[in-house]
Amino acid sequence: MTGDARSSDPGTDRTAPAPDERTPAHVAGHPDGPTAGRPAPRPLTVIPLPTAHRFQGGDDLATVLLEALSASGVEVEPGDVVCVASKVVSLVEGRSIPLPPGDARAARQALARAEAAAIVAEAPWVVITRTPQGFVAANGGVDASNVAPGTALLLPEDPDASAARLHERLRVLTGREVGVIVTDTFGRAWRHGQTDVALGICGVPAIRDERGRTDLNGGVLEVTEAAVADELAAAADLVRTKDSGTPFVLVRGLDVEGASPGQGADLIRPVEQDLFAVGGPTAVERAVTSRRTVRRFDGTRPVPRQVLEAAVAAAATAPAPHGTRPWRFIELTSGTRTRVLDAMAARWRDDLRGDGVSEEVIARRLARSDAVLRAAPVLLLPLVSLGDAHDYPDARRRTAERDLFLLSAGAALQNLQVVLAGHGFGAAWISSTAFCPDTVRGVLELEARWQPVGLIAVGAPASAPAPRSAPAVDDLLERR
Ligand SMILES: Cc1cc2nc3c(=O)[nH]c(=O)nc-3n(C[C@H](O)[C@H](O)[C@H](O)COP(=O)(O)O)c2cc1C
Repeated sequence: MTGDARSSDPGTDRTAPAPDERTPAHVAGHPDGPTAGRPAPRPLTVIPLPTAHRFQGGDDLATVLLEALSASGVEVEPGDVVCVASKVVSLVEGRSIPLPPGDARAARQALARAEAAAIVAEAPWVVITRTPQGFVAANGGVDASNVAPGTALLLPEDPDASAARLHERLRVLTGREVGVIVTDTFGRAWRHGQTDVALGICGVPAIRDERGRTDLNGGVLEVTEAAVADELAAAADLVRTKDSGTPFVLVRGLDVEGASPGQGADLIRPVEQDLFAVGGPTAVERAVTSRRTVRRFDGTRPVPRQVLEAAVAAAATAPAPHGTRPWRFIELTSGTRTRVLDAMAARWRDDLRGDGVSEEVIARRLARSDAVLRAAPVLLLPLVSLGDAHDYPDARRRTAERDLFLLSAGAALQNLQVVLAGHGFGAAWISSTAFCPDTVRGVLELEARWQPVGLIAVGAPASAPAPRSAPAVDDLLERR
């Protein structure tokens, strides 16, 4: 690939070399060598087309592009491909949205969430969403750079349709078939840095399918599908910077050997084949097994509200008898927390004194409990309602019914803790309230049907939880 022809050869005609010129002998391959009979690789020319135009809703992109071509002394030729930054496509298509005043990053994330088809992953600094168009992008591709202050820009609603419109306009205005790729800059999982990708495509292959061809050794290629349009988008981004005012880049010399034109949608992996975006089996297993009880918290790192809500929402998906959702969580904030813990401590002290435990030991045990429950950044009181438990005339069945409802609380609290752990927060399930339900109900004025099932202390772990050794499944699972 060569860069902008101006930098190496100012003032020359920028048409692509004739086919025979661009087949230098040294790339043709030896007639008897491994590349014999294969077409020689061809050079590619990538030409940035800067413009001073300030794009706004209703602009004719094709006209601005032709002006940029003419200002750069370039005439389009059949087979050329124009890469167009999605930013200008969005601007001319009126996809600009005013942001509410305040924290722009938070507003952008809120917009990404509101627009999202699904939340794929999130961390305090970013939310990765699947957009309605099917793209998985940081902050849903909502753009805040090079846009008017106080606004953000959504991705084009249908980038393939945008590409097709520009392709058609160029055909009408120039009489030439020019490929169009609508590009945007996306990050990649596992790798630092961003690269441009193809969102919308018209008149260019999306993929060069090499499956069934042979490699140099004659081995059949089984998986190779070159993402040609993404590669072109990335190449286009090499000849511009974000402040160069270069929304258009022309690529000349593309040779894709009979591959048929594609669409941006061809590059989107269907959700059901995506092992990573929604967490494949390995991710689910790891999320569950990596949870550890955390009893010491980093008080400087608050638990974000949305993390707490996500954890409670996950708790509410646990299985429960008779299809009920018999749980409730009360977040015990400062004054209430103190009143509940003080009342429970008095009750516990009485119990221990009744057991004959020494004052010294009682004080030590209370202090150990306080170190978790009073210091936890968040303290949740989980409750299970026995109101929907079926009534039976005998104690055997009444007890079984009650046990089943209590078990469902276990399932809910496991979900809660796994989701917290997934977000990097720790939790400790402390039994205390289960031993003094009347005390807890009394302080909080709860109906008798609400059974406290402990307390959940939540916060950022003070240190990384120790990894768990794999349990010996043979001891746990038997067949008879
Ligand atoms: C119903 C229940 C009650 C628990 N009560 C307490 C408790 O009172 N104090 C405490 O420190 N941990 C408590 N735990 C946490 C366990 O001690 C913890 O799960 C166990 O040590 C295993 O550690 P892990 O959760 O990291 O696998 C409780 C766990 C459950 C399921």
